[in-house]
Amino acid sequence: MEKILEVENLHVTFTTYGGTVKAVRGVDFHLNEGETLAIVGESGCGKSVTSNAIMRLIPDPPGKITNGTILFKGENLAAFSEKKMRSIRGVDISMIFQDPMTALNPTLTIGTQLMEGLQEHRNVSGKEARKKAIEMMDLVGIPNPEERLKQYPHQFSGGMRQRIVIAIALICEPDLLIADEPTTALDVTIQAQILELFEKIQGTTGVSIILITHDLGVVAKIADRIAVMYAGKIIETGTKREIFYNPQHPYTQGLLNSVPRLDLAEERLTPIDGTPPDLFSPPDACPFAARCPYVMEVCDKVYPAKTELTGSHRVNCWLQDDRAKQLIAVK
Ligand SMILES: Nc1ncnc2c1ncn2[C@@H]1O[C@H](COP(=O)(O)OP(=O)(O)O)[C@@H](O)[C@H]1O
Ligand SMILES: [Mg+2]
Repeated sequence: MEKILEVENLHVTFTTYGGTVKAVRGVDFHLNEGETLAIVGESGCGKSVTSNAIMRLIPDPPGKITNGTILFKGENLAAFSEKKMRSIRGVDISMIFQDPMTALNPTLTIGTQLMEGLQEHRNVSGKEARKKAIEMMDLVGIPNPEERLKQYPHQFSGGMRQRIVIAIALICEPDLLIADEPTTALDVTIQAQILELFEKIQGTTGVSIILITHDLGVVAKIADRIAVMYAGKIIETGTKREIFYNPQHPYTQGLLNSVPRLDLAEERLTPIDGTPPDLFSPPDACPFAARCPYVMEVCDKVYPAKTELTGSHRVNCWLQDDRAKQLIAVK
């Protein structure tokens, strides 16, 4: 499998009056061509900062990518000029944000907004652009595209607006789509329809997708692999099956226990006690130690190295690391 994206040792900080926020602290992950990777974690753990860093949309100041590489088709986006990034955004890599209303311009017709990107980046005539816009509206499931091209965002429901945002993101046929909480603002039924749409689009176009969400339930259907993020780090990654059926990090287990499950007659939801650490001065050791039901002495002292459980499943947790036993024995 070809890797379309490889993020290595990514660090992003924000310098504020209150101090330096270490929002992303050494993130590593990759995305294979044509797959969907879900990045999951509680609010504030650095998911949006990670995706904005890939798009090079970190406001500087106060933000800065202080370390790391972001290899997209083998080229390091972290070293690209703003000019070069502008030719990539919306063309090779597109991003969809949480709120479909702010992503659309209320004063322009849907048709104009769909065709804008095409006309800017691809050398197409107005007629061709219109044809492609209609094709895209059709792909994302908007009925009567010819008529609806002439309408404005407020004439569409929330779910339909999100479909339009997706159509705009895809019109230049990007290879990578980053969707940051794309269904969080929508009600549950519409959420499911939008997730199905992502699956269908991937089937049709082969686009690789990074799906960011705080809700593991959302990814159950469409993710191929899952990366679990906590306090600016990825603490476990695996295939969907590995994460759902054999979660190894107590944080992943905690997230799973707080997802409503349809297959259990009796709903037992156990939220994780406590809150994530403050990212002004996160612990150098395991950031989950303070909330972990299995915490050991070593967990508060040293950050656990990565343990490879299978070719696809890895975790950073002392419970999985044989060296913890040796460290304990030494004491
Ligand atoms: N522009 C900014 N200035 C200062 N801190 C920021 C800024 N953007 C994000 N952060 C901080 O970075 C951390 C990670 O945020 P974020 O990536 O948005 O979390 P998530 O998307 O996982 O909910 C948070 O502590 C947040 O307050
Ligand atoms: Mg976010």
